[in-house]
Amino acid sequence: MNVNDTEVIFSILGKEGYERTEDINEADVIMANTCSIRDNAEQRIWGRIEQFSHHRKKRGAIVGIVGCMAERLKTDLLDSHKVDLVAGPDSYRSLPELLSKITPDNPQINVMLSHEETYGDITPVRIDKNGVSAFISIMRGCNNVCSYCVVPYTRGAERSRDPHTIVREACDVWSKGYKEVTLLGQNVDSYLWKGPDGESVNFAKLLSMVAEISPELRVRYSTSHPKDISDEVIETMAKYDNICKCIHLPVQSGSDAMLEKMRRRYNREWYLERVAKIKSVMPDCSITTDIIAGFCGETEQDHQDTLSIMKAVGYDYAYMFAYSERPGTLAAKNYPDDIPLEEKTRRLNEIIELQNTLSLESNRRDVGEVFRVLVEGPSKRNPDELCGRASNNKMCVFPDKIHKVGDYVDVKVLSCTSATLICSVV
Ligand code: 5AD
Ligand code: SF4
Repeated sequence: MNVNDTEVIFSILGKEGYERTEDINEADVIMANTCSIRDNAEQRIWGRIEQFSHHRKKRGAIVGIVGCMAERLKTDLLDSHKVDLVAGPDSYRSLPELLSKITPDNPQINVMLSHEETYGDITPVRIDKNGVSAFISIMRGCNNVCSYCVVPYTRGAERSRDPHTIVREACDVWSKGYKEVTLLGQNVDSYLWKGPDGESVNFAKLLSMVAEISPELRVRYSTSHPKDISDEVIETMAKYDNICKCIHLPVQSGSDAMLEKMRRRYNREWYLERVAKIKSVMPDCSITTDIIAGFCGETEQDHQDTLSIMKAVGYDYAYMFAYSERPGTLAAKNYPDDIPLEEKTRRLNEIIELQNTLSLESNRRDVGEVFRVLVEGPSKRNPDELCGRASNNKMCVFPDKIHKVGDYVDVKVLSCTSATLICSVV
C-alpha cells in the first residue's frame, strides 16, 4: 500500500515538474513514506532521518516524512529539527504547496485526515522494476478498530474508490503491457461504492469488473477480513480463471479469548468454517495469513491454540509478528503488554518453525502438478533460470532460454524447498 501511495506522490509531484532520481546525492527533496504498524518499522525511520540529516545540512536538501508515522507523530517529528515536511496519508495533493513554502526555519505540516480522499483520479507513476505486476488501491482507511492496530488512527475512516476509475486504471496498465493487478485495501470485503444514480458495486462485483478486462490479465487482491469474506466473493473467484487462487486471510490468533480481546469479531469456529467454504469451492486455493505472537495476557494455552489452528488450516504461507504495543490503540489503553520479550520471542519462533514445516508440506503436495506461471524475471540464484508465480502465488523457478518477462509458461513441479517450487517447462 505504501508503494502504491508513493506512486501517487510521484504522479502529483511529477505534474509540478519534479523528477524522480535513484541517486540520493542529487535529490533536492528526500521523502520517506512510513509505516507505524509496529515499533520496529518506526525505529528504522528514525535511523533513516539520521542518514538524511547529512544531506540536509551539507546540501540543503528538504527532508520529508510522509505516511502513517507522519500522521501518528505529527509535530513531534519537527521537534527533532531534522525534518522539513510532515504529511499524512490524505494530504498528498497539498505536497507541491507545502514544498513551495518550506524554508530552513519554516517547516510545513499537513496531517488532516479526510472522509473522501481516494486519489481516484490520479494515475500513479509505476515504480515497479519489471512492468508485469501493478498495485491498484481500491479503498483507503479502516473502520474495524482491532484493539492492537494503529491503522484506523493513521489512515482514517474507510472509503471506497469509484470502481470506474479502478477499471480505467487497470485497463491503462493492461494497455501498457502489465499482466497482473493486485487490488489493495485494508479490508477489501467491505468495499462498497454507491453511485449518484443508485448504482451499487460491492467487492465481488468489482472483482468481476476487473477480471472481465481480459482473460490474460491476472487479478489478485489483499486483504480479506475473516468476518466479512462472503460466499459471493469466493464464488466470483472460482468463476474466473484469471482471478488468482490465493486468499490472504489474517487469523491473528487461534484462541477465542485472544480474538475477543483483539476485537476481531469472529471466533475460531467461524474462521475454520470460512476456510472450509473456500476449500470446498476452490480446493486448490492457497490460504495465507498474519499471526501475532504474545498479545496482552496470552496464556500458553492461547499460544497452543494458535499453533493448532495453523495446523488445522495448513497455511501455505504466513507473516508472523511479535505483538508491539502501539500508543493510543484500545489495547494500549486497556491491557498491559505483559508477555516478556523473551517469551514472545519463544512463541514467535515456534510459530515460524511450524509455518516452515507447513509451507514445505504444502509445496510437497504440489510436486507433480502443472502450473501456469507468469514470468517475473531471471531467478535470483541462477541467471539461466526464470522465476514467476503460479496462480496460488507460489514462486516457481525453471531453466528456460526462450520465454521472457511477462510471458505465461506452463511448468511442471519437480521438487521443492519450503519457499520455492523447482519446475521444468512443459
Ligand atoms: N503488533 C504486531 N503486529 C501487528 N499487526 C498489526 N498491528 C500489530 C501490532 N501492534 C500485524 C497484523 C496485521 C499485519 C498487517 O500486521 O497481523 O494483519
Ligand atoms: Fe488494523 Fe484490523 Fe483494520 Fe486490519 S482490519 S487495518 S488489523 S484495524
